[in-house]
Amino acid sequence: MYFIANWKMFGGLNSLNSIHKVVKFFKTFKKNKFIKIIYCPPSTLIRPMSKKLKNTNIDVGAQNCHEQDTYGAFTGSINSMMLKNVGAKYVIIGHSENRQAGETNKLINLKIKNALKSGLKVIFCIGETLQEKRKKITKKILNKQIKLGLNKIKNKKNVIIAYEPVWSIGTGLIPKSNELFKTIDFIKKKIKNNKVLYGGSVNPKNIYELKLINNIDGYLIGGASQDPKKFIDIIKKTYN
Ligand code: 13P
Repeated sequence: MYFIANWKMFGGLNSLNSIHKVVKFFKTFKKNKFIKIIYCPPSTLIRPMSKKLKNTNIDVGAQNCHEQDTYGAFTGSINSMMLKNVGAKYVIIGHSENRQAGETNKLINLKIKNALKSGLKVIFCIGETLQEKRKKITKKILNKQIKLGLNKIKNKKNVIIAYEPVWSIGTGLIPKSNELFKTIDFIKKKIKNNKVLYGGSVNPKNIYELKLINNIDGYLIGGASQDPKKFIDIIKKTYN
């Protein structure tokens, strides 16, 4: 099971103290062999965080990258090679917050290709909006996002899919269990042999409901991952 913390645009150097508790908990947690924890802090914290997490089996990832894998005149941008250089092993690509800001499937495809080329593992986000859900075109949307996002990528072994319905992000809402099972199943049939995670308002309460859906390979957690107590709680409750 994957437990991925997406801190989004939150956190300064002082927030690194909070991961101590998670490191301590994880060392003694009896199921830790079956778990992969990945922290995706803002880019400013990748280096100090990866230093702090040295000698633990917790990894660090980035939240996005520029599509070009070589240096270039792109003010304000960071590419996958640079992220790898400062300690990132993963990168989130295609998050709905970036799709909403204008990222197209084509651009996402280029980012994934070049991030893989740089040696990063990719957490590839897909998901429908509320409007698309109401129109009952969720499958069509997911299919398109997968097809175009992974276009001409032969080796997909370093790609993890994160299904994040846009309407569930930050809203406290999660899909109905049977619907979520079916959607994850649909994604797994489209892209075989890849892990498929769920993301969107995962918290220490609804984890009881989510953990019963037995085709989910882990969670991409936003808000609740910034609080070490909540993050630990989610992991613990997944197993008891
Ligand atoms: P929340 O858990 O805050 O809803 O965010 C989910 C998310 O966007 C993770 O990438």
